[in-house]
Amino acid sequence: MDVIIVADRRSGAAIIADAIAALINRQPAAALGLATGSSPEPIYEEMTRRHEAGVLDLAGVRAFLLDEYVGLPPSHPASYRSVIRRQVVDRLGLDPGQVTGPDGNAADVLEACRDYEAAIQAAGGIDLQLLGIGSDGHIGFNEPSSSLGSRTRLKTLTAQTRADNARFFDGNAEAVPQHVLTQGLGTIVEARHLVLVAWGAGKAAALARCVEGPVTAMVPASVLQLHPHVSVVVDDEAAAGLSLADYYRSVFATKPAWQGL
Ligand code: F6R
Repeated sequence: MDVIIVADRRSGAAIIADAIAALINRQPAAALGLATGSSPEPIYEEMTRRHEAGVLDLAGVRAFLLDEYVGLPPSHPASYRSVIRRQVVDRLGLDPGQVTGPDGNAADVLEACRDYEAAIQAAGGIDLQLLGIGSDGHIGFNEPSSSLGSRTRLKTLTAQTRADNARFFDGNAEAVPQHVLTQGLGTIVEARHLVLVAWGAGKAAALARCVEGPVTAMVPASVLQLHPHVSVVVDDEAAAGLSLADYYRSVFATKPAWQGL
């Protein structure tokens, strides 16, 4: 696991955009795993700047969403399909037909979960998966106690996650759906490269448990420790709880350029 501590979100976003650009250069039809929420926004903004400058072409890219609320119509502004359409598809010129997410409105959600797993498999798996981390240590919507081997399935959000996400629902935690469909932890760790981002002091405790604590279902993000290619990009505030922060800084300062992320 590489832990990269940056001075601010914009420099972190530039490092990740470089890695995505390098991937697309090698593989124009790469499969990107997209997260929603506040954490990936600086990355999507940086990619948009590059796209508008004509140096990043995502026309051939395929994209897979991490998760989706159950029962929110796709047109609802907080549905993850809407968020990704606004922040990524419309701005970066992705082919909407190449963007897939779990169907939170399916009559049969179990079948929708199986279909989603099959779609990821049929695409040859995900090349680079972006991840944020919840203040309770979740990734995707795998809340504490999620099986480390779980696949895409229905989950129930914790009260804390609903309170954290109330800001996307006019501040009303009750309006945040209780149920979601999410890629499982076993699904997420099959992506070839995992890139987790965390900004701000509110993520420091969860991030420290994810990176330096024991691997446990109580901190679902700790499953990243089992993956061979993980980049964790964080600002100073989110890194505040890391005991080896100085070591991570020296590793990154002397990282050979040819390694990339
Ligand atoms: C979103 C997702 C979640 C968020 C996490 C952090 O698709 O899967 O795991 O990444 O809840 O959310 P933010 O970034 O809004 O703090």
